[in-house]
Amino acid sequence: MTEVRTAHTADLDAAALEAVRALLDDVFDDMTDQDFEHALGGVHALVWEGAELVGHASVIQRRLLNGGRALRTGYVEGVGVRAGQRGRGYGTAMMDALERVMRGAYELGALGPTDAGAAFYAARGWQLWQGPSSALTPAGLKRTEEEDGCLYVLPLAVPLDLSSELICDWRDGDLW
Ligand SMILES: CC(C)(COP(=O)(O)OP(=O)(O)OC[C@H]1O[C@@H](n2cnc3c(N)ncnc32)[C@H](O)[C@@H]1OP(=O)(O)O)[C@@H](O)C(=O)NCCC(=O)NCCS
Repeated sequence: MTEVRTAHTADLDAAALEAVRALLDDVFDDMTDQDFEHALGGVHALVWEGAELVGHASVIQRRLLNGGRALRTGYVEGVGVRAGQRGRGYGTAMMDALERVMRGAYELGALGPTDAGAAFYAARGWQLWQGPSSALTPAGLKRTEEEDGCLYVLPLAVPLDLSSELICDWRDGDLW
C-alpha cells in the first residue's frame, strides 16, 4: 500500500517545502522559481520513503473561463516521481488523492502536461482540450496558440464543449 500524505501548503514546514523543490529540480531539468511558485497555495500530495521525498503533486485554484463562466478550477502542478522510484504506483496514488480533492472542491480539473506525461493523464480519463486556448493578461486577452492541443481537463460539475475556447487567469511565468 502506498501511503500518500496530503497537506495544504500552509501545513508544510520549511524543510518539507525544500524537499519538494529539490525533488522537482531533480525530476525537471528546466524547473524555474515561477514553476515552483505555481505549485504552492493549494493541496499537496506527498509520498515519502522514510525520510526521502520520492513523489509530489499539487492542486491549486485558478479561474478558467469557458462559455461565459468563470469556473472554479483545480489546476494540477508539479507532478513528479523520482526517476528510480517510478512504476511503483506512486503517481497513481498521488493523482487519486488530488482528484478526490478536485471532485469535492472544484467545478473542473485542468493541467498542462509535459509531452511525456500526457499519456499518464489520458489513461486516467483526463480529456484533451481541442478548442483554442487564451489567457487573460494585464494587457487584455491573448491567444496562447503554443498550448493548443496540449491541455487536459477533468470534467467535474459542469458540462463542457471541448472544442470551445478555454481562457486562463493571469500569473507570472508559464501561463498554463
Ligand atoms: C508521470 C509520473 C509522475 C508517473 O509516476 P509513476 O509513479 O511512475 O506512475 P505509476 O507507477 O502510478 O504508473 C501509473 C501508470 O502510468 C503509466 N505511466 C507512467 N508514466 C507514464 C508516462 N510518462 N506515459 C505513459 N504512461 C505512464 C505506468 O506504466 C502505469 O501504467 P499501468 O497502471 O498500466 O501499469 C512519472 O513518470 C514522472 O515523474 N515522470 C517525469 C515527470 C513528468 O513528466 N511528470 C508529469 C508532469 S505533467
